[in-house]
Amino acid sequence: MAALTPEQEQIGKENFSGAVHAMNSGDTKSGGVNRRDALKAIAAGGVGTSAALFGYSELKKDRVRVAFIGTGDEGNILLNEHPEAYMEIVAIADLRPFNRERAFKGDGNDVRKGLIKKLGGDVASKIKTFNSHKELLEHKDELGLEAVVIATPLMTHAPIALDCMEAGLHVLTEKLMARTIPQCKEMIRSARDKNLLLTVGHQRHYSVLYDNANNLVQNGMLGDIKHIRAQWHRNNSFPNSDSWQKKIEKVDQDITDAELDPFGFDNVNQLINWRLYEKTGGGLMAELGSHQMDAASIFLGKVHPIAVSGFGGKNFYGIENVGPKDKWKDNREIDDQIFVIFEFPGPHYEQNNRDKCIVTYSSINTNKFEPYGEIVYGTRGTLFMKTEKEAMLWKEDGRGSTGGGPDQRLWVISGTEGGAGGPVMEAYETTSGPKVATGGTDWATNVSRGYREEMEHFCYAIRNQGPDYWPNDQPVDPKAGGLRCNGVVAMADAIMALTANLAMELQTRIEFNPDWFDPNSDAAPELEHGVTA
Ligand SMILES: NC(=O)c1ccc[n+]([C@@H]2O[C@H](COP(=O)([O-])OP(=O)(O)OC[C@H]3O[C@@H](n4cnc5c(N)ncnc54)[C@H](O)[C@@H]3O)[C@@H](O)[C@H]2O)c1
Repeated sequence: MAALTPEQEQIGKENFSGAVHAMNSGDTKSGGVNRRDALKAIAAGGVGTSAALFGYSELKKDRVRVAFIGTGDEGNILLNEHPEAYMEIVAIADLRPFNRERAFKGDGNDVRKGLIKKLGGDVASKIKTFNSHKELLEHKDELGLEAVVIATPLMTHAPIALDCMEAGLHVLTEKLMARTIPQCKEMIRSARDKNLLLTVGHQRHYSVLYDNANNLVQNGMLGDIKHIRAQWHRNNSFPNSDSWQKKIEKVDQDITDAELDPFGFDNVNQLINWRLYEKTGGGLMAELGSHQMDAASIFLGKVHPIAVSGFGGKNFYGIENVGPKDKWKDNREIDDQIFVIFEFPGPHYEQNNRDKCIVTYSSINTNKFEPYGEIVYGTRGTLFMKTEKEAMLWKEDGRGSTGGGPDQRLWVISGTEGGAGGPVMEAYETTSGPKVATGGTDWATNVSRGYREEMEHFCYAIRNQGPDYWPNDQPVDPKAGGLRCNGVVAMADAIMALTANLAMELQTRIEFNPDWFDPNSDAAPELEHGVTA
């Protein structure tokens, strides 16, 4: 994302760490939580950094009885990360024999260990296995089931979540929330009417790294943000292979079309390679871009965008004579390259509609020179979030300032809310300087992507808060401790991703209708623009 020397990256990381430390020592807030108080609570012991910052704590009650639906690539990561102190896994369900077995045996690596290695053979042997979510729900009472984690193909999120809520279960579903916006609205209304919790796995809401970065942004450290550049670039071309085009494992080859029909799939290839087809997936924007548009909109205060336009194309896969023996020809329907431009309102947009922040997002399949991340360009500084694992900060080198840019260390001369002009960065004259302490927290060295935390908070909210705490049909509420990616927040991410797809398909600039974001209105981008896929 940015051609930086190792020294510049190191300076950027230390700048970020120092600025976070300065801000955490002051009276600053993020997501309604006072960070100094939260950090005091951590120092006093008993609470993890993330729990304190995200407004929940130890469960101190019976663990929530949960089933995992979909134990494929992502389901296995979630099984691996599941918080044992909050959650008791009572069952798993998957249509594929290969993935039912994989849930227990894992992949032989640390990311997907499998339940036997994670929990021990005795505990794992008590976990029941079902061939589908429907079969699981038939046994919900004897299992004492309270909640589900859904990690299935996009097309199935809404039908499975609705079936589970109909059965009285709380739902944490993977992103994108649903394949269409009317489906998102149905899910929100179902959760509200049945008094159930519904949350979606955009894990950046539960990343301490992102929360620290957002705290700097919300307290004005970057000044006025005029541009965010986000991207996810991968190289799936020669000599690599496409991670989205998977082989059909031997044990899955006998799954019949008739068996899959009740679950919406035409055949086993569509079940396994669901990301490649319009019916079952939402393309690069849904799978990758939604995460980064989620991040960009967090930094912009979760305001809704004004408009989107872009280009999407099948520029690599399916083109004759590309790669050896036309290996790259397949029948995929989704674009393999996208570039979209979102217009967001700037802080003074109400007074002057030329005050905009432009967010660009690109995803390509043939070059990963700068892999993935987001760069936030403010009038006072630049923030670089790299691959969800690192954050860097540099002061802007403005006219008349004491310096800045990627070679200079900085310190924060006012980190106190309400201080004159808010926090201000100053640059050292030299490229060398002291390393800055991280304030005794573990966020800088032990970066969690947020999966564990989102599951912890889900369980904590089920036991201690209930749906009244953060009703699913309300817009974002900064009240401390509410689920951070509830139905309304997640639907906004889905609206951005799916409307970007529409803009690319129709080759036009689409303005976002505020009613699309209102779960009580039936308005939806697909309905207004005449495309229902
Ligand atoms: N948050 C993240 O960073 C992240 C990362 C990767 C994937 N995901 C999301 O996770 C979800 C799953 O992705 P994946 O890569 O694991 O896909 P996958 O194809 O590897 O696994 C999906 C599994 O769901 C099963 N399934 C489908 N319908 C079912 C039903 N009715 N009942 C039971 N099982 C059913 C399939 O048999 C399959 O094993 C997707 O929504 C994806 O977008 C999120």
